[in-house]
Amino acid sequence: MNAVKLLLVEDDPLLGEALYEALDRKGYRTRLAVCGAEALSACCDESFDLVLQDVRLPDADGLDVLADILAAQPRCHALVMTGQATVEMAVRAMKLGAFDFITKPFPVDVLLMKLERLLEFRSLEKKVADLTGAGGALGRIVTRAPAMQAVLDTLAVVADSEASVLLLGESGTGKELLGEALHSLSPRSAGPLVRVNCAAIPESLIEAELFGVERGAYTGAERSRPGYLEFAHGGTLFLDEIGELSQAVQAKLLRVLGERSSTRVGGTSPYELNFRLLCATNRDLPAMIAAGEFREDLYYRINVISLQIPPLRERREDIPLLAAHFIERFSSDPGKKIRMTPEVLERLMLLPWPGNVRELSNLIEQLSLLYPGQQIHQRHLPPSPANGQPLGTIFEKITVGIPLKEAITEFERHYIDRVLSSTGGRKSRAAEILGVSRKSLWEKLREESA
Ligand SMILES: Nc1ncnc2c1ncn2[C@@H]1O[C@H](COP(=O)(O)OP(=O)(O)OP(=O)(O)O)[C@@H](O)[C@H]1O
Ligand SMILES: [Mg+2]
Repeated sequence: MNAVKLLLVEDDPLLGEALYEALDRKGYRTRLAVCGAEALSACCDESFDLVLQDVRLPDADGLDVLADILAAQPRCHALVMTGQATVEMAVRAMKLGAFDFITKPFPVDVLLMKLERLLEFRSLEKKVADLTGAGGALGRIVTRAPAMQAVLDTLAVVADSEASVLLLGESGTGKELLGEALHSLSPRSAGPLVRVNCAAIPESLIEAELFGVERGAYTGAERSRPGYLEFAHGGTLFLDEIGELSQAVQAKLLRVLGERSSTRVGGTSPYELNFRLLCATNRDLPAMIAAGEFREDLYYRINVISLQIPPLRERREDIPLLAAHFIERFSSDPGKKIRMTPEVLERLMLLPWPGNVRELSNLIEQLSLLYPGQQIHQRHLPPSPANGQPLGTIFEKITVGIPLKEAITEFERHYIDRVLSSTGGRKSRAAEILGVSRKSLWEKLREESA
């Protein structure tokens, strides 16, 4: 409350003084302006959270002044004080963005109450902006797909609790990004977010890294060190790729989570656990449980709430949006942004994206480096990812017992079909991949259809 800066625009010296004092006592940092000119000059030297505006001023119409104030400080919220509230004036003030009115004379308490309501509204508005705005935690997550939006809505709700959250999704779908958002929306956002990539730490070190180690616990432990569980004190512990933990570490983790305390490796004095647990994996944990590779009891402990992030191929409407986002991110200066033809975007939307958003990000980064400021055409795209994929069912289409020449012709026909479908039916690109001229591809296709 102390930090709220209020501009009081009131020409009546008695009322002005009285309000100033009441507001000051309430902890508002108030500045009094006795005319329109003074109000506007105040707006030039500092920014206000609230303005309390009188309508009749000696040098100007109060609502005109308010219009200028709000134009200069669009984040400011206004409350209008007036001797006679007419409907016409009320409409005008509301159009300007005034939040509320108060009719003179009024008890100071009523005014203070209205100001408080205004502040509540303001903080609500700010919360919404924080969630969705460009700088906000969710603002960094680019999406318009309803399936993804639903995940973000749940994330925003569960962020408020202490419940353990498990983020599921294929590689590159944005698990890490969502994990960061969850932490920054949570009541622990002022505390640390400690992310541990369980797949990146060698088996022999992971226990010491997670739980800490006392000097001399084993050869090589030259000094005592806290572990990630201790570093996360007061914040969030993000165990990324949790499916990679060994059975032994799974067992110890389960135990310490249950006890809410742990000891360092080789240590005896326990430390208290104080973190919110967040885990992520691209593995199928239930399948791992069935195969005896992941502890079921640990699974239930980490999975109080699980969020399944859909793969990019199931939210293709995000592809153009993400492409634009990465073009922005990867162009060294605004004049060097790559541009994409509609055909290229269309093509991007058709690809399977097994590496999800990360794969798209990598592609845009690569194109931005290779062709700064240029128009991207289909030929700039790397060979279709269908290349290098197994032929799969083609062989099943060729029956055993036919002469070799016929089998080869059959194979050729199916192979050309597959390549053509991987290029979205574009013959010139298919010819490039097949390593034949467009003319000879065209001839082969004519033969086929004959
Ligand atoms: N919706 C999105 N909006 C903007 N950027 C995104 C989005 N989703 C993912 N990214 C970006 O894509 C890249 C991969 O995302 P991230 O590392 O979060 O994926 P992941 O699911 O953790 O992948 P892995 O399982 O491989 O660790 C990051 O650079 C991330 O910033
Ligand atoms: Mg990740």
